[in-house]
Amino acid sequence: MAENTKTAKLTIDGKEYELPIHSPSAGPDVIDIRKLYAQAGVFTYDPGFTSTASCDSTITFIDGDKGELLHRGYPIDQLASKSHFLEVAFTLLYGYLPSADELEKFESLVTNHTMIHEQMHYFFRGFRRDAHPMATMVGVVGAMSAFYHDSTDINDEHQREVASIRLIAKMPTIAAMAYKYSIGQPFVYPRNDLDYASNFLHMCFAVPAEEYQVNPILARAMDRIFTLHADHEQNASTSTVRLASSSGANPFACIAAGIACLWGPAHGGANQACLEMLREIGTVDRIPEYIARAKDKNDPFRLMGFGHRVYKNFDPRAKVMKESADEVLGLLGIENNPTLQVAKELERIALEDPYFVEKKLYPNVDFYSGIILDAMGFPTSMFTPIFALARTVGWISQWKEQLADPQLKIGRPRQLYLGDTARDYVDIENR
Ligand code: CMC
Repeated sequence: MAENTKTAKLTIDGKEYELPIHSPSAGPDVIDIRKLYAQAGVFTYDPGFTSTASCDSTITFIDGDKGELLHRGYPIDQLASKSHFLEVAFTLLYGYLPSADELEKFESLVTNHTMIHEQMHYFFRGFRRDAHPMATMVGVVGAMSAFYHDSTDINDEHQREVASIRLIAKMPTIAAMAYKYSIGQPFVYPRNDLDYASNFLHMCFAVPAEEYQVNPILARAMDRIFTLHADHEQNASTSTVRLASSSGANPFACIAAGIACLWGPAHGGANQACLEMLREIGTVDRIPEYIARAKDKNDPFRLMGFGHRVYKNFDPRAKVMKESADEVLGLLGIENNPTLQVAKELERIALEDPYFVEKKLYPNVDFYSGIILDAMGFPTSMFTPIFALARTVGWISQWKEQLADPQLKIGRPRQLYLGDTARDYVDIENR
């Protein structure tokens, strides 16, 4: 961290404390409160971490007011239009755009780790058929530490690298298997002659009974969805991975924790919830009813796919996703898809409504992604597993960065205790 020159002054009961201020390469200054408790005997209070930086990082930067998202400095719209997922994965992991040779080696490495241990097939069979694929993924990814002992030593750099590649390579296989299992079809083995996105589509949609040709339009759209979800700085699931890892837990356990956190409807589960909401609305004339519900303080309903903790402007990923939805549905000849019509009209009405304008609620990445995934043939239950497989590279990049930090400490927040103070135990007959 660069040497700080600025300081902040805090006065408590007339006594002044000086706190260092760190200036980042982009974004607001950060007041360093690490020594505050030792010096002043007080904690800070920030539930939901709305004003707290939990770490320093060089991976991803978001300017929520501008609606800007950079991975290693590269804008997401440029990466989505000019790059592809495995190149973005390399860039996130190693910090720079790979040379042609480096990219070829990386792609070959990932491609050659796509199969999972054959015994894991039996592990799948322990789940109920109707299990949500996210439930299966949390279990199977956590169980990887039982199958890949030789890459669980976090103090061994080589093992960390092997675990990273294994997770990125095997996650599509695991997600596709979770899907196949849920619909009662045989597992489809990965094919090393296909690129990352095409291979995933093949494992999801091929059946042994007939030839399956991957549609290149869908493969490109799939790859773009992976790219748009690859990382998003210190969001809830990434922070979960970092917190789990801070105790020294193995990488598979940490990523399983991230998947569990991602599942919630306020986070990665929003893409499933959003498409279900759009279908429930059904027709454009019912939109005002749902807008009114979203604004009603006594109704817990929220417009799914709208709002973001950090973006107070358009989520740049939503812009690319909307273009992609138009392109994919157009190419598939289903541009009159009623769900897309409802989504576009809902977006138009919400963006003019004072409630959404004043609260700066804009469509987020989940608003249009479900429409594309639906057009591709995925059931809604697969939307969040697809998010999880794409986000794995972000989790891994952040995990590696954290472990390389010489200042790493176990994550251990404090609390504002409001419960009873010490009181004597009362025997049961006297209560
Ligand atoms: N519909 C209606 N009102 C909303 C919405 C929404 N989608 N989102 C926020 N608000 C209101 C909220 O009621 C609050 O109003 P007030 O100030 O009057 O109490 C205000 O806007 C601020 O909301 P908040 O809950 O304090 O904001 P937050 O930063 O804690 O929550 C959020 C961010 C993403 C959880 C929230 O906007 C939300 O629940 N959105 C719907 C779920 C969703 O689409 N999640 C995906 C996020 S992007 C992908 C990802 O990260 O996984």
